[in-house]
Amino acid sequence: MQDVLERLREEALAQIQAVRTLDDLEAARVAYLGRHGALKESMRQIGKLAPEERRAAGMAANEVKAAIVNGLEARRQLIERVAAQLTLPTEDLTLPGLHPPLGGEHPLRRAEADLREVFARLGFEVVEGPEVELEYYNFEALNIPADHASRDSFDTFYVGGDVLLRSHTSPVQVRVMEQRQPPIRVVVPGRVYRPDTADATHSPVFHQIEGLVVGEGVTFADLKAVLTMAMRELFGPKTETRFRPSFFPFTEPSAEVDVSYEAGGKRRWLELLGAGMVHPRVFEAVGYDPEQYTGFAFGMGIDRVAMLRYGIPDIRLLLENDLRFLEQL
Ligand code: FA5
Repeated sequence: MQDVLERLREEALAQIQAVRTLDDLEAARVAYLGRHGALKESMRQIGKLAPEERRAAGMAANEVKAAIVNGLEARRQLIERVAAQLTLPTEDLTLPGLHPPLGGEHPLRRAEADLREVFARLGFEVVEGPEVELEYYNFEALNIPADHASRDSFDTFYVGGDVLLRSHTSPVQVRVMEQRQPPIRVVVPGRVYRPDTADATHSPVFHQIEGLVVGEGVTFADLKAVLTMAMRELFGPKTETRFRPSFFPFTEPSAEVDVSYEAGGKRRWLELLGAGMVHPRVFEAVGYDPEQYTGFAFGMGIDRVAMLRYGIPDIRLLLENDLRFLEQL
């Protein structure tokens, strides 16, 4: 009897495992547990056994019944879970994929990164300085006298007292020299502010990269060589630089430097930077001996570099955040 029951259990559980619908599951339940089912039939056989065997066989039959009930219940839950999943909306794999908009580097940032790299290759270290600056660093230490026009409140954003928004990156020259001894070879990229009226080549907020080299025997020829090489790296090997005599209180001699570019088949020039040999008074302000050291410095407009590199006709486009413009670059 035990064998019969064991076979019944195996057969019932195997059949329940094969069932895929609730209707078939109900049919299996009736076939095994129903009034005319296989288990009832076994029970009837047990009734005919000798009394001493009946008890053990009855217990075995109850165990088989419990196993079948559990098997039916587990299968029912599984069938219901699968059915629920099948009714969920499924993905349409034939639809075109989503294209999340990819950000890009702003042309100003790209120009700045290119400048950092070009000067790094020429042996310059990159340092930075504060945008909110003391009058002393922006003017006095750079030998810009109190009555100089650039110190006028029309030419500088004063925050209050002797604090202002730096009008160029040159104050960082002084900060670097105060902290270090020669030899020095640094570039300083950063944002600067002037109450200039905006036009195609001027903006009240713009960017400069300052260069400073100090050592023994540094000459104007070194300045010309470095700038000419850097401009060719940036704008191509045919690029020419033009040095025009100029004046800055913190350099002597001083020059304004233009870079050649082609437009409409013609060569044109764009003023890109101011430069010169560091004035002895600046060395004195930081405690360097002007008899021992010489140096050169330059300050270049990064916005204008970006304009030249990417053929941007108006500097204001760089700061308007118009995606139609930015996505073209
Ligand atoms: C200066 O700012 C000096 N500090 C540069 C310098 C540094 C000279 C070291 C000597 C030694 P300047 O005002 O000319 O110089 O400005 C330098 C460059 O900044 C200009 O050639 C131009 O490319 C850019 N620039 C000046 N004003 C603006 C403006 N409003 N908008 C955009 N770019 C400007």
